[in-house]
Amino acid sequence: MKYGGILVTGGAGFVGANLAIWFKERFPKISVIAADNLRRPGAELNLERMREHGISFLHCDIRNREDLEAVPAEVDLVLECSAEPSVLAGMCSPEYVIRTNLVGTANCLELARRRRAALVFLSTSRVYPVKAVNAIAFRELETRFSILPGQSVAGVSERGISEEFPLEGARSLYGASKLASELLIEEYGEAYGLPYIIDRCGVLAGPWQMGRVDQGVFSLWMAKHYFGSELTYVGWGGAGKQVRDLLHIEDLADLLAVQLSDLERFGGRVVNVGGGAGCSLSLREATSLCQEIAGRRIAIGSEPENRPADLRLYITDTNRVSGLTGWRPCREPRAILQDIFEWIRGNEAKVRHLWA
Ligand SMILES: NC(=O)c1ccc[n+]([C@@H]2O[C@H](COP(=O)([O-])OP(=O)(O)OC[C@H]3O[C@@H](n4cnc5c(N)ncnc54)[C@H](O)[C@@H]3O)[C@@H](O)[C@H]2O)c1
Repeated sequence: MKYGGILVTGGAGFVGANLAIWFKERFPKISVIAADNLRRPGAELNLERMREHGISFLHCDIRNREDLEAVPAEVDLVLECSAEPSVLAGMCSPEYVIRTNLVGTANCLELARRRRAALVFLSTSRVYPVKAVNAIAFRELETRFSILPGQSVAGVSERGISEEFPLEGARSLYGASKLASELLIEEYGEAYGLPYIIDRCGVLAGPWQMGRVDQGVFSLWMAKHYFGSELTYVGWGGAGKQVRDLLHIEDLADLLAVQLSDLERFGGRVVNVGGGAGCSLSLREATSLCQEIAGRRIAIGSEPENRPADLRLYITDTNRVSGLTGWRPCREPRAILQDIFEWIRGNEAKVRHLWA
């Protein structure tokens, strides 16, 4: 990699800390700085392992442009991984969501512009409008909902949702703040020649994800099974048939390494990134796998009512990104859950307070 210094915003979060360590391990000569305000409960647990890997930590609130002035001069690549990533957060703290997810990205863009740095933006499948995604024709199978063949809307097929999917309609404040950030990034690309990557990610999963009911569902599922506590199937009739594809964090890192190897060729556009149709789970299916891996059953309640902005099913169509880069996700659902299980087992005392 040709970069001298990488700034990872949200660097103590699940994605940020894993990427910071991944890049530092593979490119030890590059200095890596993780910047975070430690808002996410559990983010502080990442500080020790980042220190062990030679990653510097900058306590920084992305909402404040001045906080970024402490970023060292050698930084020529910004991985923008900071966010309030919960779809539900916008319901109670809209200002925090907008100021972190949108103003924060604008602050990163200004930093990148002034430093002539490249920017990688972790966007989200949540940019696609909620009503339109929930209007996708589906069938109900024994353990999951599934997309029907022969859809009438552009950008959706049995492979999942592609970049052609219509963007008209509301998408949650989280999704809106991320889409607005994408637009700003494209403008900086056009106006200032700023090199960028925008990866619209579906559900990401893996070790060191401090999963909660409103974000990080697969690590939450594994953790609750591990510690023997309770879970609830919420929404869509309460039967746990809602479906998401999932992508292991290391598969994402593999993709970023390819994209960053040639930004001229692979950057400057939006791609949907996820595990795809071959790597998806309903909650019920996740329960079965977690039971097998953890070796125990836990009580799972049922609440039929949907939460705001929830989706019945979302699968990423990865055709564009795979066609462009040759990248394909390698890890399957069982391996991803197993990896999360091993991480919790190896760090039980440190993480117990989050879930037990
Ligand atoms: N995890 C997923 O499934 C997923 C899917 C799609 C996109 N993304 C995107 O990936 C990125 C990382 O998400 P994540 O899953 O690691 O979430 P996370 O909550 O684990 O990490 C986000 C980090 O940002 C920090 N942060 C929040 N507000 C901040 C602020 N004002 N200033 C500085 N730091 C702040 C938090 O403390 C946290 O450490 C986000 O941009 C998110 O939108 C995540």
